[in-house]
Amino acid sequence: MSVAVEFRNITKEFGPVRVLHGVGFALQPGRVYGLLGENGAGKSTLMKILAGYESPTTGEVVVDGAVRAPGGGSRAAEAQGIVLIHQEFNLADDLTIAQNIFLGHEIKRGPFLDDKAMREKTREALAKVGLPLDPDTRVRKLIVAEKQLVEIARALARNARLLIMDEPTATLTPGETERLFALMAGLKAAGVTIIYISHKLDEVERTTDEVVVMRDGLLVAREPTASVTRRQMANLMVGRELADLFPPKLPAPQDGAPAIQVRGLTVPGWAEGVDFEVRRGEILGFAGLVGAGRTELFEGLLGLRPRSAGTVELAGKQVQLKSPRDAARHGLTYLSEDRKGKGLHVHFSLRPNLTLMALERYAKPWLDPAAEQAALRDAVQEFGIRTGSLEVRASSLSGGNQQKLALAKVLHPGPSVVVLDEPTRGVDVGAKREIYHLVQRLAEQGLAVVVISSELMELIGLCHRVAVMRAGRLLTTLQEPNLTEEELITHATGTR
Ligand SMILES: Nc1ncnc2c1ncn2[C@@H]1O[C@H](COP(=O)(O)OP(=O)(O)OP(=O)(O)O)[C@@H](O)[C@H]1O
Ligand SMILES: [Mg+2]
Repeated sequence: MSVAVEFRNITKEFGPVRVLHGVGFALQPGRVYGLLGENGAGKSTLMKILAGYESPTTGEVVVDGAVRAPGGGSRAAEAQGIVLIHQEFNLADDLTIAQNIFLGHEIKRGPFLDDKAMREKTREALAKVGLPLDPDTRVRKLIVAEKQLVEIARALARNARLLIMDEPTATLTPGETERLFALMAGLKAAGVTIIYISHKLDEVERTTDEVVVMRDGLLVAREPTASVTRRQMANLMVGRELADLFPPKLPAPQDGAPAIQVRGLTVPGWAEGVDFEVRRGEILGFAGLVGAGRTELFEGLLGLRPRSAGTVELAGKQVQLKSPRDAARHGLTYLSEDRKGKGLHVHFSLRPNLTLMALERYAKPWLDPAAEQAALRDAVQEFGIRTGSLEVRASSLSGGNQQKLALAKVLHPGPSVVVLDEPTRGVDVGAKREIYHLVQRLAEQGLAVVVISSELMELIGLCHRVAVMRAGRLLTTLQEPNLTEEELITHATGTR
């Protein structure tokens, strides 16, 4: 059952840029490894090499003592029992869940596909991850958390001996995360080796036996998990002592008209009669479980979903927003939690991704590419986007760096209200800190900021007030001294 893996002097170049610089280490079978490192350190790249999605420029992957032949791709790796759960989902939107799970591994009866067996096995795999969906549902219809669970179910259906999980819990609820941890414990007991990549250090602390730390394409540390604190893990990743995560809170603005006022907003099936307002300089959080309707509420507000009732006023003027572009023209921008689907055009290069919502600014009347390029250079600098070159596609940025680009994009039009849905998803501790400070600077400059987050500490550390949603309703808005983890959970889960 167990599989032992060794990396020997792995390098990887993308064009002229070298991102792995000779990585070598061995993993023992049946253990759980936490793979840590800043955004862009090379974690996903190394794991894609292990799982056959990329080939190393030089160096070898050794599996169970045998050097793996080059060029076999992910099929050859999967034949060795090595399966990767992708950080940026790798599902085909137009196929059903069952088709995605068995893509390239179809079950056949004679010359024919055995749809019945595949459906049945899909149902089993979905049950394991606690997702009671019809196997015939198209992936396009799923929300992000469901896509993540389908990715996990897909890996489970492959009988992995070595399972690589790249940020698996970024979109999961606490309940789903617990279920995943229980699954991991079961797999470990059955002898499966697990490599767990996460920026959530509390999870790494809980689930792993050993941490392996990468920095700038090199292995820099390896320690038994029990022998390092979270703070030490963070310091190893960034290579220096990190300062406090949150800036001191600014006082909440006491007066002034709301920059955005929402009354009775109803998004059928998702949100019902929601009222809230945010003043200039104020940071309002939205807490709730996945499925509570937070994202869908704002998608309705922006015209991405139908709304059946309610009014929205921006700076005192009633508006009917039709699309995110339309909203941007009215001074409201939205960072989507689904950065690959709705946030970025990942197949485009960085420049249009930054400027797309503010093109008017560069049209004089024809587009001015030099000005756009200068803006990109500034944004890369300001947001600390790590990229070898400015000319790459957004898809080639590491996950956390895509997130920073998405953030730069929504701030580029110079909004007066900004809605950030899971702004720190997938970003490393250092970058998280920078984003928190950025959010506070935005408020200081007079923006009204909404932060939707499933990280309670983030809401508590950052927001003046936090609205809690459950089952489509805004139940309460908490502020100091009631802004505590316990209060938030109580209201979000309805378990007083
Ligand atoms: N296809 C590609 N073309 C060009 N550069 C790439 C490509 N894939 C990755 N890179 C670069 O390789 C470096 C390492 O990226 P990688 O995705 O491995 O980082 P990571 O450690 O997984 O980061 P994160 O925590 O943000 O997910 C980054 O600088 C990234 O831009
Ligand atoms: Mg990654």
